[in-house]
Amino acid sequence: MTILHLDASINGENSASRAISRSIVDQLTIERGGADIVYRDLAAEPLPHLTLDAFADSSALDEFLAADTVVIGAPMYNFTLPTQLKAWIDRIVIAGKTFRYTESGPEGLANGKRVIVALARGGFYNQGSPASALEHLETYLSGVLNFIGIEPEFVFADGLSVSPEQRDRSIKVALGETVRLAA
Ligand SMILES: Cc1cc2nc3c(=O)[nH]c(=O)nc-3n(C[C@H](O)[C@H](O)[C@H](O)COP(=O)(O)O)c2cc1C
Repeated sequence: MTILHLDASINGENSASRAISRSIVDQLTIERGGADIVYRDLAAEPLPHLTLDAFADSSALDEFLAADTVVIGAPMYNFTLPTQLKAWIDRIVIAGKTFRYTESGPEGLANGKRVIVALARGGFYNQGSPASALEHLETYLSGVLNFIGIEPEFVFADGLSVSPEQRDRSIKVALGETVRLAA
């Protein structure tokens, strides 16, 4: 099994999404008795914004295609994903590689991969909540991954900016969830 592990938080060791994505990878590795892990820290070593020349570098796409499992640490910044993670998305959503256009509409080609996303958000975005209309992280990642043929699984740590107690509680619940996901 090859796991591609991505992080995008700018918060280093204080990052909730990093702690949760690491726990997911650890649990999967234990559960399966080992794994090849490819790690990409998109905050420490950002991919450049997309340019025509950047299409020539297929290293991120190759890593993605080679992995059977992808674990993504995804913090919410300004209601959506970090630009560093968007730059990675721009490298893997490629016509002819991860999707294609057909007469009956677009078709995802990346099906068969398991993708688990550790979402970390400062607020709460449940359906019906006042902020739900501003949720463009989970909805975007679901939409774009669906487009290439993947049904992602999410581990949620929400309300992280509400209070230290809420933050501890949310992270604890999310870390517990990672054990269930790997089983
Ligand atoms: C630059 C920045 C922008 C943020 N924007 C939002 C936001 O729009 N909505 C929200 O709920 N939380 C927001 N937050 C809070 C983060 O989502 C929260 O701190 C989360 O823990 C970040 O993940 P991390 O701990 O892995 O870095 C923001 C944090 C930062 C640093």
